[in-house]
Amino acid sequence: MAVPEFRNEPLTDFSQPAAHQAMTEALAQVRAQFGRHYPLWIGGRAVDTPERIVSYNPGRKTEVVGTVARATREHAEQALAAAWEAFGPWSRLPASARAAVLFRAAAIMRRRKLELAAWEVYEAGKTWPEADADVAEAIDFLEYYGRQALRLAEPQPVTPLAGEFNETFYIPLGAGLVIPPWNFPLAILTGTTVGPVVAGNTVILKPASNTPVIGAKFMEIMIEAGIPAGVINFLPGPGPEVGDYLVAHPRTRFVNFTGSMEVGLRIYEQAARRQPGQIWLKRVVAEMGGKDAIVVDESADLEEAANGIVVSAFGFQGQKCSACSRAIVVDGVYDEVLQRVVEKTRQLRVGQADDPATQVGPVIDQAAFQKIMRYIEIGRGEGRLVVGGQGDDREGYFIQPTVFADVDGRATIAQEEIFGPVVAFIRARDFDHALALANDTMYGLTGSVYARDRYKLERAKHEFHVGNLYFNRKCTGALVGVHPFGGWNMSGTDAKAGGPDYLLWFMQPKSVSEKL
Ligand code: NAD
Ligand code: ALA
Repeated sequence: MAVPEFRNEPLTDFSQPAAHQAMTEALAQVRAQFGRHYPLWIGGRAVDTPERIVSYNPGRKTEVVGTVARATREHAEQALAAAWEAFGPWSRLPASARAAVLFRAAAIMRRRKLELAAWEVYEAGKTWPEADADVAEAIDFLEYYGRQALRLAEPQPVTPLAGEFNETFYIPLGAGLVIPPWNFPLAILTGTTVGPVVAGNTVILKPASNTPVIGAKFMEIMIEAGIPAGVINFLPGPGPEVGDYLVAHPRTRFVNFTGSMEVGLRIYEQAARRQPGQIWLKRVVAEMGGKDAIVVDESADLEEAANGIVVSAFGFQGQKCSACSRAIVVDGVYDEVLQRVVEKTRQLRVGQADDPATQVGPVIDQAAFQKIMRYIEIGRGEGRLVVGGQGDDREGYFIQPTVFADVDGRATIAQEEIFGPVVAFIRARDFDHALALANDTMYGLTGSVYARDRYKLERAKHEFHVGNLYFNRKCTGALVGVHPFGGWNMSGTDAKAGGPDYLLWFMQPKSVSEKL
């Protein structure tokens, strides 16, 4: 199959009147569909359940975006059986046929781009540009993994040996479980599902309970794109009930998880325990949290650094694994960078995500609101509150972007993932100290260094221990194919989503040798 070279999906420029108008219309169309109900999908059949998951708009907390069927263990058992039944025929298809389904899905998403973004605005509280970027990333995963599957279908190089014919090739693993988070509700859900699938596996997709309607939209698109029955089984349900059951199940071949460290560690441990009748080691991909730092050196462009800190700390309300939650600034420029960040933060507009002027929308739910506000209370005792600190959950879950200054590197708010719009400023004596502070965490996901000094950048390249390191730019917004994404240490297995090795996590190499 001849396919053009991969290129990232362009982002929408909402300053253009036509795009602005189209998004306004998409929001109205989506709003008119609020309250609809979505089924489970098991073995190609739509299945309804008496119990439902209700999905609310986090900005208007009583507004129901939609309801989704709620799976039980019986459904989980049926879904796993359906996935195994589909595995034989799907795994035997040529990679080009599987990739074609992804390319068709990408084309459908491209046509429905603004509609899908509008669902994200309402269900996840993403601002227009954040929602648009998430849909673009989902399209990228489809296009990129489709191409990677074609590449990996080629026989792998082996050293010639006289008297033998030798081959090594990759085969898929089997039926697995996909558990994505809510914070990139289409992109990560799409990438973590279609990666294993295009490699020849079949899956059960358990979407996050905060964003199941977007999951249902993905399922509709994959069905329209021609995914055969049972290849993707859509199973919204409670993590602890359906998720735990399937993670522990002896017939689950792999688990592809993205989410918090707490849940990731639990899955990692559970999956490692052999169950009666289990004949394999479960493959587990666990991409988890972060406590990401931006380091600012004296040689930096301070305005650029301040912009980078603000956008990385407060984009999508700080609810990114990649978000900057520590600004580590060397002594000589600390006060100036802090002042610039405070001024820029004061100007951020907090509001409803469907308002195009909003830069900081609501956080995802009541539990997140309470958790973040608890950290802000802790921060008041650990640093100097210089901007923000207020929350308002009367209509939706709004929290002012918050900066704490003069925080110790070992303080709670400098060590634990807050997952909200809160950044701790930490003063470093010099660049050495800044790097030591940056590395003083159990996580290792993203980081940035702002410096013009080439020696310092080169040192950071080797001594700043994160999976995704950026120089003189924000620490969020990894692009598929451009910045393969994943973290070290307690940030996870570093599977590098959107990278050339990703599909190999869901495949096993086989060597065949024939004596001539
Ligand atoms: P979470 O861990 O609470 O939930 C993630 C998923 O796990 C959800 O689908 C949830 O329903 C499911 N789940 C919960 N309990 C489960 C259980 N016992 N068994 C099986 N599944 C279970 O995380 P979240 O709140 O959805 O997402 C935020 C977290 O995800 C943050 O920590 C963030 O840093 C992390 N994250 C990491 C990356 C990355 O690439 N490293 C990307 C995005 C988000
Ligand atoms: N891939 C996302 C980012 O880089 C998490 O921000």
